[in-house]
Amino acid sequence: MINDLWYKNAVIYCLSVGAYMDANGDGIGDFTGLMRRLDYLHGLGITAIWLMPFQVSPHRDDGYDVSDYYGVDPRYGTLGDFVEFTHAAKQRGIRVLIDLVINHTSDQHPWFKEACKDPNSKHRDWYVWSKKKPANANTGMVFPGVQKSTWTYDEQAKAWYFHRFYDFQPDLNTSHPEVQAEILKIMGFWIQLGVSGFRMDAVPFIISTKGPDVREPEEQYDMLRMFREFLQWRQGDCIALAEANVLPETDLEYFGDDGDRMHMMFNFQVNQNLFYALASADMRPLVKALKATKPRPATAQWGMFLRNHDELDLGRLTDEQRQAVFAAFGPDPEMQLYDRGIRRRLAPMFDGDQRRLELAYSLLFTLPATPVIRYGDEIGMGDNLKLPERNCARTPMQWSNEPQGGFTKSDKPHVPVISGGPYGYEHVNAAIQRRHPESLLNWTERIIRMRKEVPEVGWGDFTVIPTRDPSVLVMRYDWRNNWVLFVHNLDAKPHEVRFSVGLDGDNAEHGKLLVNLLAEDHSRAGEDGNHRLVIEAYGYRWYRVGGLDYLLRRTEVDEPLHPKTG
Ligand code: GLC
Ligand code: CA
Repeated sequence: MINDLWYKNAVIYCLSVGAYMDANGDGIGDFTGLMRRLDYLHGLGITAIWLMPFQVSPHRDDGYDVSDYYGVDPRYGTLGDFVEFTHAAKQRGIRVLIDLVINHTSDQHPWFKEACKDPNSKHRDWYVWSKKKPANANTGMVFPGVQKSTWTYDEQAKAWYFHRFYDFQPDLNTSHPEVQAEILKIMGFWIQLGVSGFRMDAVPFIISTKGPDVREPEEQYDMLRMFREFLQWRQGDCIALAEANVLPETDLEYFGDDGDRMHMMFNFQVNQNLFYALASADMRPLVKALKATKPRPATAQWGMFLRNHDELDLGRLTDEQRQAVFAAFGPDPEMQLYDRGIRRRLAPMFDGDQRRLELAYSLLFTLPATPVIRYGDEIGMGDNLKLPERNCARTPMQWSNEPQGGFTKSDKPHVPVISGGPYGYEHVNAAIQRRHPESLLNWTERIIRMRKEVPEVGWGDFTVIPTRDPSVLVMRYDWRNNWVLFVHNLDAKPHEVRFSVGLDGDNAEHGKLLVNLLAEDHSRAGEDGNHRLVIEAYGYRWYRVGGLDYLLRRTEVDEPLHPKTG
């Protein structure tokens, strides 16, 4: 395969324009501000930006309630500013993905208003209605504890409308051909303005059958192929990255057996088990999740993440595992959310301990996927638990120790900048960290740089190497006659491990030398062919197998058979 599929080996940075930088001083981040920070992002080394919703919206769910799909919310700038931004990103080789929120609209969208007003209007059928209160109106809420039902009565429409999320987010009738045509039109519009794809919000709900009589919603996977075909016909390098927190047995329905559906999906299964592993120093369930999510078409890719803009959803763990993660990372009820997750940012979950943050990031960058990092995590930003629900982890970026963290000239930012305490902008900011070689920011920049020189992770095939030690994860990646090997110790104490790289035949010899890519301690196998190493608490190692002449040995095509997979 020609390695044209950029998303297989990208580094994606997710940000919200309103929280990044405010150029015009009204207290809300804007496209002009973001544009001025593109050189920062370029220097960090990321290759793509995932931009959270910025379209016109009443902002009752941070923009995930859109009231005009074809415009930029005036608080962030104009369509002109948006195009300047995509152009400036492109000049720096950075691609832009945007959120596509089309499971539902805002209840302030003109389509919905018209649908409520006039039962004969064209848009009535674009939503999902019931004359009577459906029997299952009090089931299936996505935000339990906050959201009361999934059906709400509208006085004007004199009918109940369906909403999988909050009551101000009426679901679109996504099975309706006209709604589908409109979705494609929205995609086409933003592609024309310079984006390379979409993070598709709430995919299982978009493709699900909806209606008062639907007892067991069914996924209409064919729709995914339609989206993909449209994207690729319009622009060959355009991708869809699906938000679909589903069980591994349906992954292939989303990717398509022939790789004809979603290009990428977030790997929620691995995410949850990764946090369990970090909490318990037991990586066995993580390995299980890695194996369960391994099968995928060659053109498909996972998106891996630690934290995102939502709560850390632990709903797929066992009760016992979930309790272990709560105990380690979010013991207070105010840190938890929706009976299933933790709403904190990454750094406070680890008490700001840089060793543990590096370990978590090192794992993120070496699991079989394209890493997706969240703005502010590169400097270890904290959260503000006084803000409601998920807003606690959506505070403005902390650029410097100048007033308001350098985010705005206004003294009233729309969302308060974190100030005071261990995570206040006075201590935690990009400017200070620039000056310290060992800061998290500079570490992140170096690890991204190295990750880009290790394409084996994005393109290759992985093997988990057995060590008999559940706290230590050893993984090898094979690609084009090159191999890399990673070791992670999840425990708070040092471990000694013994393992064989597992290459055989002509390659066995290579397996005897591991060259450390990040430090000076290399490893040579003993007489028995085994490597023996002592790895410190929360330690990690990135090794090249067989020495640094690997590029001289790399083949031009993928091998039909991989070296022994253990
Ligand atoms: C997704 C988003 C979340 C939003 C919801 C409704 O889960 O990640 O932030 O609230 O969809 O659009
Ligand atoms: Ca502004």
